[in-house]
Amino acid sequence: PASTTPLAHGDLAVGGVSLAEVADRFGTPVYLLDEGEVRARCRAYHDAFPEAAVLYAAKAFLCRAMAHWVEEEGMGLDVCSAGELELAVTTGFPPEHIVLHGNAKSPYDLQAALRFGVGRIVIDSPSEIARLAVAVPEGSRQKVMVRVAPGIAAGGHAKIRTGTDDQKFGLSLADGSAHHAIARILDQPHLELVGLHCHLGSQITSAKPYLAAVRRMVGLLARVRDQHGITLPELDLGGGYGIAYRPGEPALDIAALGPRVRAELADGCAAAGLPVPRLIIEPGRAVVGPAGISLYRVLAVKRTGHRTFVAVDGGMSDNPRPALYGVRYAPRLVGRATAAPLATATVAGRHCEAGDVLAGEAELPGDIRPGDLLAVPVAGAYHLSMASGYNLVGRPPVVAVADGRARLLVRRESLDDIRSRDVGL
Ligand code: LLP
Repeated sequence: PASTTPLAHGDLAVGGVSLAEVADRFGTPVYLLDEGEVRARCRAYHDAFPEAAVLYAAKAFLCRAMAHWVEEEGMGLDVCSAGELELAVTTGFPPEHIVLHGNAKSPYDLQAALRFGVGRIVIDSPSEIARLAVAVPEGSRQKVMVRVAPGIAAGGHAKIRTGTDDQKFGLSLADGSAHHAIARILDQPHLELVGLHCHLGSQITSAKPYLAAVRRMVGLLARVRDQHGITLPELDLGGGYGIAYRPGEPALDIAALGPRVRAELADGCAAAGLPVPRLIIEPGRAVVGPAGISLYRVLAVKRTGHRTFVAVDGGMSDNPRPALYGVRYAPRLVGRATAAPLATATVAGRHCEAGDVLAGEAELPGDIRPGDLLAVPVAGAYHLSMASGYNLVGRPPVVAVADGRARLLVRRESLDDIRSRDVGL
């Protein structure tokens, strides 16, 4: 996780900046992003997969600075809406290094992709083939890939498993939908099929599903060659690389995964008599998750007959992940030294439902009290990007820390922002 340095009085520094100072200066709740950690994580992907094109999955977290950092680190971008696409392109991100995903792309998404000239559009359904074929301007050809559901169950929670046959993404390998789609795309003069894509799921902590996916996808590449006489040059294995949210939890070792995927791909292609395709991967969570920290102020401490509740000034509106996937975090006290022994507490949010719990079994000093500052590590991915407007509390700001400096990247959503969208009276 974002490398913290202990400071005096129980405070911590990230990127050379005191967390207590960030809270004072920008208010709470606030998301902190360690730029050095993001960049180091981008480099770790290049080191583990030196031959691959690495696309950062923007859905995990996107703002202009983030787009700029990943571009500087030599990565492309995976987007799944015109919104993500426009933010990146208008920041100067080269559209040819962007891939558009989505199981239900709107006409506006497709138009934006064609207008900006994205590198690849990943086709996810038969209906999309027809829609795209007529949308591509006369005289041009759009590079596309096909999203395949390879029939592999992987991922940290049922809601984020996308490789099986019985879910909404992709075209099934097992029932022949993938083959049909490929044949239809090859018939379209305005579409150029350059490769196959699969994304098994998210928060995967074992190499096995990736190796199984390589085998199945190479099998499909061989079948395309046999049936259609063409060799597709690209294979995109998607994202999903799992991280630890609490100390001691398993994480996927990508330094070990890279060589294993490369070997599996080389062996499979050699056996099938295929050239090794250009590998593409799409990590999101593992690039930005551990680089983020949420800071909250404690507003209330309540001891019931059952437990101690520590209620903070954020919650499910800035982090819906505990409520959605049952994920638990490990908050810690910062900014105050104490000798009080640790005790188990439930860190709850401020929202008006009992399920708004950020950490069910947090180990916090027994003298925790209102005014204290709590840091929740591993908050960089799928936090702001999934934040909601629940209870009109306004979404928190994002602050980047690097080289001893804190810099505002995204400002707090204000009551004026909220009021200005409400035009109905
Ligand atoms: N590529 C595609 C096509 C995807 O759908 C995703 C994530 C990724 C790449 C990046 O996966 P990652 O490396 O971040 O696991 N909100 C959930 C995660 C949803 C993932 C959606 N797709 C969560 O908070 O756990």
